Amino acid sequence: MRVLIRAFAAGVALAFAAACSDKNHDHAASSHASPALSVTDLRNAERSENAAIEKKIDDLIGQMTLEEKIGQMTQINNSAIVTNANWGAGSDLSIEIKVDTAKLGAMLRKYHIGSFLNGIAVPGETWYQFYKDLQEYNLKTSRLKIPVIYGVDHMHGPNYVEGATIFPHALNTAATYNNQFPADMAHVTAIETADLGHQWLFAPVLDLARTPLWGRYYETLGESPYVAATMGSIFVKTIQNDPDIAPYKIAATAKHFFAYSDPKYGFDRGPVDVSEQALYEFHLPSFKAAIDAGIKTIMINSGDLNGEPVHASYWALTEVLRGKLKFKGVAVTDWEDIIRLYRNHRVAANEKDATYKAIMAGVDMSMTPYTTAFCDYMRELVNEGKISQERIDLSVSRILRLKLELGLFENPLPRNDRFNRIGASENKAKALEAARESIVLMKNEGILPLNAAAKNIVVAGPTANLKRPLAGGWTLRWMANDESIYPKDMLTVYTALQKEFTGSRISLAATPGEIKTKAAGANAIIVCAGEMPYAEGFGSIQDISLSDDQVELVKAAQATGKPVILVMISGRPRVITKIYPGCKAVLFAGLPGFEGAQAIAEILSGKVNPSAKMSFNYPYAVNRLVPHNHKISEILLAHEIENPIALVPFGTGLSYTTFEYSGLILSDSVLTSETAEIKASVTVKNTGSREGKEAVLWFLHDEVASISRPVRDLKYYEKELIRPGESKTFSFTIRPLEQLTFPNKHGEQLLEDGYFTLMVGNQKTRFKLQR
Ligand code: BGC
Repeated sequence: MRVLIRAFAAGVALAFAAACSDKNHDHAASSHASPALSVTDLRNAERSENAAIEKKIDDLIGQMTLEEKIGQMTQINNSAIVTNANWGAGSDLSIEIKVDTAKLGAMLRKYHIGSFLNGIAVPGETWYQFYKDLQEYNLKTSRLKIPVIYGVDHMHGPNYVEGATIFPHALNTAATYNNQFPADMAHVTAIETADLGHQWLFAPVLDLARTPLWGRYYETLGESPYVAATMGSIFVKTIQNDPDIAPYKIAATAKHFFAYSDPKYGFDRGPVDVSEQALYEFHLPSFKAAIDAGIKTIMINSGDLNGEPVHASYWALTEVLRGKLKFKGVAVTDWEDIIRLYRNHRVAANEKDATYKAIMAGVDMSMTPYTTAFCDYMRELVNEGKISQERIDLSVSRILRLKLELGLFENPLPRNDRFNRIGASENKAKALEAARESIVLMKNEGILPLNAAAKNIVVAGPTANLKRPLAGGWTLRWMANDESIYPKDMLTVYTALQKEFTGSRISLAATPGEIKTKAAGANAIIVCAGEMPYAEGFGSIQDISLSDDQVELVKAAQATGKPVILVMISGRPRVITKIYPGCKAVLFAGLPGFEGAQAIAEILSGKVNPSAKMSFNYPYAVNRLVPHNHKISEILLAHEIENPIALVPFGTGLSYTTFEYSGLILSDSVLTSETAEIKASVTVKNTGSREGKEAVLWFLHDEVASISRPVRDLKYYEKELIRPGESKTFSFTIRPLEQLTFPNKHGEQLLEDGYFTLMVGNQKTRFKLQR
């Protein structure tokens, strides 16, 4: 029996829209031929229950001039309003965060700009002064006293505040399988930045890891839509509702809406061609979860999705985002993306045409971000009758609601009496804990932990004694390649090992020759390989293999006959299959942040027992970049045995203790209705000699379905500390409407009777849905 359960997000938006579509003269034609959503009906449907806020919005809109309204829809980069801007000169951007009142004044008086963005890591005091000057000047200039809102990319902790706490990147967070960490990161980011006027956070990234060729892979919460939805929405709820930042509030941004992360040939911002079914199955759930969690803003995918640049897609930005997902907040463009509609995508003849297309598709605010040309084109388009006042008012109402709900009107100015929160030791302790639980022990042939008996350790490799590779892109600068700007007290792997192994000789070897010489008498050689920081398009690579020079270094270490431990410090997996067998142990440290070196050293020494599990399939070969949730037909069993897809599969990782799974039982083996439940339980015993945390991952596979299903799909996880000899019972409740449905190409959820396989650890069982 096949039953259609409900539209992707339960709702009747499309129905009401159909009834009102005759009123709608100002929407762009939809390529998907769904009824249009009327601007008036959207405006009414989005009104909140807060009558005072809604009245204020109506009052302001009633008084604002067209120019003032367009200004609210414009976001300008701070380089346009500071005294010294050096954006774009290489990767080490230098900028003085000091308001240039002449530049700012001209912009505010003529264009009434409502939002600014961006930054680099400067001290809290500098940010405070900058934002105070900016907001005070704005309030003095603004006829209606509408505050500006400032947006910043704090992607893994407050990465644009000097001395702040820097967490691991999201790919690592996902590998912890511990929901405490997205909450910790959100809280620390909030308390270290909200006072500075950073009330619009361009995070979390909710794009799904699909191909490691894509340079922004490390910004994702890995391959599982369930993990991205779960951790992403925890981050959103925590940061948007943090009582410790009162009187301020922060708005998060779900980005980049949507399906940005699977460019066909791996290039950042390259076209994505995926089936509509895969869009609903993989790319939408994390955004849906964030919207359900109340996220206030979304940032749009810069790319082209199935032939349609998303910034010009009425289908994506209105039908899906507003109609299906019921998003009521602000949709901001990504960087220069209106301009890109004509310059890169060539779906518009010029910037004015691009502006028209983007607004009609559903854009509320343009991150222009360097010029005010957008304002001029908008004014012309309205005056020519191409864009209606009502359409403008819809976006302006969303932007004003955001500002009012954040309390910007009551508390527009920053404060400087809580700077002791920035980089506070308890915050750094949270980042260290996150790093410790985010590093995957991929392989260990008895060499680890290297305890105090390791008296002579050789450390080599390009990432061994540098700070910048540990935190990757979006740290201090967009893409910092200057070691001198990192905190003086930040450790490298080399200096962290010196601290960790106090009684041992730790020597650094730079070349294969030095490795050979220093290996005599060494207990082990630790090779730290990986990548230097990159961001966005700079992360595009020609070859996913570990670079030849690094492979040679590992081979030189192996040739000494000493045990070799490989530590991968990189934002994605680099293929290492050829050197893997010759390594006694391998760690995937990912991008563990400022506390990462200590976490690596503690795992190597054994002070910390590793507990991370892969948040992606670590590829076995360059032509096998296959995520864990692929279809059965992707790979025939025979091939898989001969040549596996994953060197280390998603959801696996070693510990210094051993866990035994047993006794998987179900409360029932048949579900007789869609509201019935089965409770599955499994016992996990620590059979080793030290305590350890185990993340228990529950996977389902739908054995026969009308649409081919992934070989496995993570549905639930939980992590607990288990002492030696202790057994713990873990359970998971299966509810048909929550875990057994899947989307068709229209985004409708299907529920089909039949057998399902449940997998946890090495245990497997089946149950049936039979209605
Ligand atoms: C990136 C976004 C970022 C924005 C503002 C863009 O180039 O794609 O992720 O939020 O710049 O810095």
